[in-house]
Amino acid sequence: MRFSARSRRAETSPASAAARASRSASSRSPASSRILASRQFLDIGTGLPTADNTHEVAQRIAPESRIVYVDNDPLVLVHAQALLVSAPEGVTDYIEADVREPEVILRGAASDLDFDQPIALMMLGIMGQISDGDDPKGLIDRLMAALAPGSDLALSDGVNTNPALNAAIKAYNARSANTYHVRSPEQLAGFFEGLDLVEPGVVVTSRWRPDPVEVGKVPEDQEAAMGGVARKA
Ligand SMILES: C[S@@+](CC[C@H](N)C(=O)[O-])C[C@H]1O[C@@H](n2cnc3c(N)ncnc32)[C@H](O)[C@@H]1O
Repeated sequence: MRFSARSRRAETSPASAAARASRSASSRSPASSRILASRQFLDIGTGLPTADNTHEVAQRIAPESRIVYVDNDPLVLVHAQALLVSAPEGVTDYIEADVREPEVILRGAASDLDFDQPIALMMLGIMGQISDGDDPKGLIDRLMAALAPGSDLALSDGVNTNPALNAAIKAYNARSANTYHVRSPEQLAGFFEGLDLVEPGVVVTSRWRPDPVEVGKVPEDQEAAMGGVARKA
């Protein structure tokens, strides 16, 4: 199922804060600059629409940018239908699909994205929703294998470095059907294996952000979300 859309982020799990922290595409870091230079985006785990969605940021810089959003939550689909907006020069599309079926996503995206050209694969705040039993690294590899050299993976998620957050996640998992799988920084870094990490590497997500003053900013040593950008050679 597909609809052109823009996205707002779902507050579906303890990963949400981490995801919100990481999705700012306007950053001074080389990693974010790399993503901002992309003209094609495959944004998996879109979430509900909010301000500065991927297509808004991308098409502000380059109106011809092509964006395909993917989420498996029917609620996201409802909002996506209401918010189909794209610059006339570009494309914004929405596919309802599950990241655990990469080939379905790749087939669906092929009508909007040129797979002979680089594509930025955005996986912000989604892999924590995928259990080890579903082979998250294997899913990433299957997606990246279909992308042209020069394509980037931007991935972020919660990490298990904050005991208070770990306790909250444990409590959340005990009462929720959708469990969240918080991983170590090393496990998160492992998702980039086989790709060339862009500076500053896998870091706390605030280091992607430009704002000199951020209301409510969490001190870096208490942050429990990390991410990075890596390029396919
Ligand atoms: C924490 S939100 C992150 C939203 C957004 N990427 C951001 O950075 O703000 C995670 C999103 O992943 C979606 N999601 C969870 N499991 C998924 C799956 N198996 N396939 C596709 N999307 C999934 C959820 O519906 C939700 O919208």
